[in-house]
Amino acid sequence: MSQAPTMSADLLAALKAKIANKTALVGVVGLGYVGLPFAVEKAKVGFHVLGIEQNPRRADQVNAGVNYIGDVHDDELTEVVKNGFVTAETNFGRIAEMDVIVICVPTPLNKNLAPDLQYVRAVTSEISQQLRPGQLVSLESTTYPGTCEEVMLPILEESGLRVEEDFYLAHSPERVDPGNKRYTTKNTHKVVGGVGPRSLEVATEFYGQTILNVIPVSSAKAAELTKVFENTFRAVNIALVNELMVLCDKMDLNVWEVLDAAFTKPFGIMPFYPGPGVGGHCIPLDPHYLEWKARELNFTTRFIGLAGEINRSMPAFVVEKARRCLNAMGIASSRSSILILGIAYKKDIDDWRESPALEVIKLLIDEGAKVSYHDPHVPKVSEHGVELVSVPLDPLRLGNYDLVVIVTDHTSVDYASVVKNAKHILDTRNSTKGLGATNVTLL
Ligand SMILES: NC(=O)c1ccc[n+]([C@@H]2O[C@H](COP(=O)([O-])OP(=O)(O)OC[C@H]3O[C@@H](n4cnc5c(N)ncnc54)[C@H](O)[C@@H]3O)[C@@H](O)[C@H]2O)c1
Repeated sequence: MSQAPTMSADLLAALKAKIANKTALVGVVGLGYVGLPFAVEKAKVGFHVLGIEQNPRRADQVNAGVNYIGDVHDDELTEVVKNGFVTAETNFGRIAEMDVIVICVPTPLNKNLAPDLQYVRAVTSEISQQLRPGQLVSLESTTYPGTCEEVMLPILEESGLRVEEDFYLAHSPERVDPGNKRYTTKNTHKVVGGVGPRSLEVATEFYGQTILNVIPVSSAKAAELTKVFENTFRAVNIALVNELMVLCDKMDLNVWEVLDAAFTKPFGIMPFYPGPGVGGHCIPLDPHYLEWKARELNFTTRFIGLAGEINRSMPAFVVEKARRCLNAMGIASSRSSILILGIAYKKDIDDWRESPALEVIKLLIDEGAKVSYHDPHVPKVSEHGVELVSVPLDPLRLGNYDLVVIVTDHTSVDYASVVKNAKHILDTRNSTKGLGATNVTLL
């Protein structure tokens, strides 16, 4: 009788049992916005978690119980670290000890809007060198359909081990919405797909330990497409309302009034709001992963290209409106002094990666404007020549600026005070709604 089916069935049962009784050692590679909250959630229910984080400062902070991610509660991190449930290292030396390895590394785009999988490849190679029978590898990073099977699997099988027989490979895309107090890692439904039925079975067991609703799909590829579709859906709908905003500007209509009225319809419509453009590491990037993959099939995803084009044009539209506001006051933009209010890519978070505020600032500086910014969550920024430190939001000094441009609508900002003290405001988020201000231009 062949031994292999029995052995692999035993391996599967042993891993599932370790997961069920929480003796499985969980490795989390990449302790950023996705990895650190995930590590803490797993530790809170009793798993021992070993993080691998290449940034030594972050690894040291974790080991000292010092939090650096907004969605993680300081006291929860301190508690799980103090009790020995979470530790972090900068190297891959203990991969073989782990039972489950979850990958949460960045998946950026290169300059040509093509996927840059260097982090996923590098981590997969490290894992492959120490892979042992009975391990589950799960990719959480957002990526194009086919990454697990076409990119990761061949690297992992260089170990000589076979997927489904010796080890398991799954994709479970992270859906975390930073700053969202209602939907967290725990209560957001989690989609899981395996490269085979055993991978799906063990991954479902693993995620079911901490997440209230696990949604299994038939393949890793289906899970990969689910995530990029979700973010494409958002990018396209944001582009649609952004385009409507530009049209309303030409029609001399208030887009916010039109949208508020449209969203009173109780069915067949869903609220999306215009703004200065999209930011963060998801909406501006993920749709282009799908666009790139579709091209391999000689298929053009026209909505994605168009949505990207419209959303990327919004900072220039903001600057055009700023110029109009300044002109109306008889001030040339080249001689103006402007305060950008909010630099994070969305409200109440500290993440300014890909934030449209940066492009707005660059364009204004190019015009010769003197630009400062205030953001209660972002003390300083340094990117592509923009080096700025957040200035205090001093009501007495607000009148010194020719224009205040509200780019991010953080809730902690006192907009009544801004309206009262600023000369003029360009509000890209409708955050001055209801204040009865006469010195506000809406985007
Ligand atoms: N931030 C979000 O809101 C969000 C939401 C859903 C999905 N995602 C996806 O999750 C993935 C991770 O995003 P993030 O925002 O957490 O990124 P992040 O930059 O906050 O964190 C990634 C971490 O991985 C570390 N890292 C990179 N290469 C490494 C390596 N070889 N070994 C060990 N550590 C390494 C980095 O130092 C960093 O700390 C991306 O694919 C992203 O698209 C992000």
